[in-house]
Amino acid sequence: MLKNVLVTGGAGFIGSNFIRYVQHKHPEAKLVNLDLLTYAGSLENFKNLPNPQNHRFVQGDICDQSLVENLLRDEEIDTIVHFAAESHVDRSLKGPDAFIQTNIMGTFVLLEAARKVWLQEQKFNGNSVRFHHISTDEVYGTLEPDDPAFEETTPYAPTSPYAASKASSDHLVRAYANSFGLPITISNCSNNYGPYQFPEKLIPLIILNALTGKPLPIYGDGMQIRDWLYVEDHCDAIWSVLNKGKVGESYNVGGGNQPPNIEIVTTICTLLDEANPSSDFCPHAQLITYVTDRPGHDRRYAMNIDKIYQELDWKPSVDLQEGLRRTVNWYLNHIDWLTVIIKEKDYQNWVEINYQGREGQ
Ligand code: NAD
Ligand code: TYD
Repeated sequence: MLKNVLVTGGAGFIGSNFIRYVQHKHPEAKLVNLDLLTYAGSLENFKNLPNPQNHRFVQGDICDQSLVENLLRDEEIDTIVHFAAESHVDRSLKGPDAFIQTNIMGTFVLLEAARKVWLQEQKFNGNSVRFHHISTDEVYGTLEPDDPAFEETTPYAPTSPYAASKASSDHLVRAYANSFGLPITISNCSNNYGPYQFPEKLIPLIILNALTGKPLPIYGDGMQIRDWLYVEDHCDAIWSVLNKGKVGESYNVGGGNQPPNIEIVTTICTLLDEANPSSDFCPHAQLITYVTDRPGHDRRYAMNIDKIYQELDWKPSVDLQEGLRRTVNWYLNHIDWLTVIIKEKDYQNWVEINYQGREGQ
């Protein structure tokens, strides 16, 4: 395992961080990065890799069965780390089709290809391969204020098309383990943040808008709660599962914090005030604008991470304040990346679709 690794979605936010993480941790691993380069993926996300000769980029669709099968055979892939997905809840509310296609059908195609090449053609013995599926805490649904945190045994109750498509893919992955003996693991992680996140998600969107003096949109009352994890910690958790995780198991991954959204946004504003005291937009919190809530907005997520801590000795290493400080500094030092990304990816169009007519609630 981990000699020849197929990373799907490696041009996106977490996938590109994972590629960089593996190249530092395990430079001899050969990485094949299969990514369609949708609006969320960019070649800009993996420029200047430490070990470019051990990274091959293939632009293609995970729904393309023959492409995937050929990659597994030709590259002698022994490990699949499956990130590729449509990942934004708001987009799943405006157009769910792509979520069903990529998240459900795409995962099915990858599982079928792995079953065929690994198990039927017996290219490898069963102990030397692994299909690791990246999933989310959103499959568990929403919590009331006093509910206990999600455990791996919490029944699935997804509420958005995004969450339902991820839940569906998790079920398929488990079914392939149970029915065909495919060696799988799954990690369900909370909200990630950090370098290279596309500025449609809360934290980079707030940073970008604050830098340009635009309103900072808070859905509803801003008291929705998420558990936030710095992306490098997520990569480290995946690495732990790949190396020490038990085949067939799922692991919850999270940052162990419970801030309401408004607290995240005010902390970013304070960090920007400190970094940029002469900005015309100081204090940045004056830009906060409450807008119409997301339909069906999950109120609270919380993760119980006892299993991964007790069994694999993993826990987050970057606390929220430090992670936000690093993230704000990264964006301030990568304005050129932001400029290219928002131009390249038809960003303005999405902003209009999602925010027009929503203000002033
Ligand atoms: P992202 O949207 O930044 O990146 C997704 C990548 O997948 C993009 O590079 C895109 O081009 C690629 N892709 C999309 N459709 C594809 C297809 N059909 N074929 C090949 N490539 C395709 O997403 P992310 O935030 O990096 O999330 C990665 C994974 O982690 C997803 O599975 C997501 O559900 C999961 N996850 C994300 C978070 C989070 O907070 N971002 C939290 C928990 C789990
Ligand atoms: P997001 O980053 O889209 O992640 P997710 O929906 O997967 O949790 O949103 C995080 C939280 O921030 C969520 O409660 C929705 C809220 N939010 C806003 O209040 N304003 C925004 O403009 C966005 C994009 C999100």
